[in-house]
Amino acid sequence: MKAILEATALGRRFPVGEGVWALKRVDLAVPRGAFVVITGPSGCGKTTLLNLLGGLDRPTRGDVVLKGLAYSRLDESGLARLRRTEIGFVFQFFNLLSDLTAEENVALPMRLAGLPPAEITSRTAALLEATGMSHRARHTPHELSGGEQQRVAVARALANDPAIVLADEPTGNLDSKNSEDIMELFRRFNREKGQTFVVVSHDPGFAEHADMVVRMRDGEVQALEEREGTGAC
Ligand SMILES: Nc1ncnc2c1ncn2[C@@H]1O[C@H](COP(=O)(O)OP(=O)(O)OP(=O)(O)O)[C@@H](O)[C@H]1O
Ligand SMILES: [Mg+2]
Repeated sequence: MKAILEATALGRRFPVGEGVWALKRVDLAVPRGAFVVITGPSGCGKTTLLNLLGGLDRPTRGDVVLKGLAYSRLDESGLARLRRTEIGFVFQFFNLLSDLTAEENVALPMRLAGLPPAEITSRTAALLEATGMSHRARHTPHELSGGEQQRVAVARALANDPAIVLADEPTGNLDSKNSEDIMELFRRFNREKGQTFVVVSHDPGFAEHADMVVRMRDGEVQALEEREGTGAC
């Protein structure tokens, strides 16, 4: 099993009151191309773990290695570059920039990565097409439904063709039809492009198709279920 992403003895303590160990100790290896679902009760440390895996937060102890690069060896700009080029993020509250249109939101990560304008234009069109959002390209987020906003957010997350997509409750604010659409999009990109997905979700639809389900409790991994015969290798 070749891991694309590895967490070793990962812990995060927040200095509030006497200190809160949101994450006590997590060891996790995510196989390249896998669809991983993280689940567990509210407050057990799922978001904290995902933020550490994505380099959005620094651990109190332990380390994360993505494609052989240890986050502890990167300064802030190195970590920002890694996030920009290798990781796509999808959040529960969509987090689109409200002044930009759908297509401008999708194009932004490519602009920041310095892609040539012609390539940005064609990739943006392809991503909006793939997420079924071409007809709303000129709409700003408040002119879109929640489901549509999340599809644009998925297109944006995939803009720089990241090796891994991290999603925190991506269907948490969607009805069942829109949730199913987002799940299907994730599964399609996982299957067709071999992108690795790590998704925090309570949605049984995600767990059903996962290669690995990580069940967390009290800042630790309580159980790890690996499925045979799925895409992980
Ligand atoms: N910035 C912070 N400062 C202090 N404590 C925090 C901070 N972020 C999270 N915590 C605490 O760490 C614990 C884990 O929080 P986390 O957000 O990771 O949980 P979660 O599993 O994502 O929960 P939910 O399912 O409700 O989103 C909680 O007890 C929370 O109160
Ligand atoms: Mg959370």
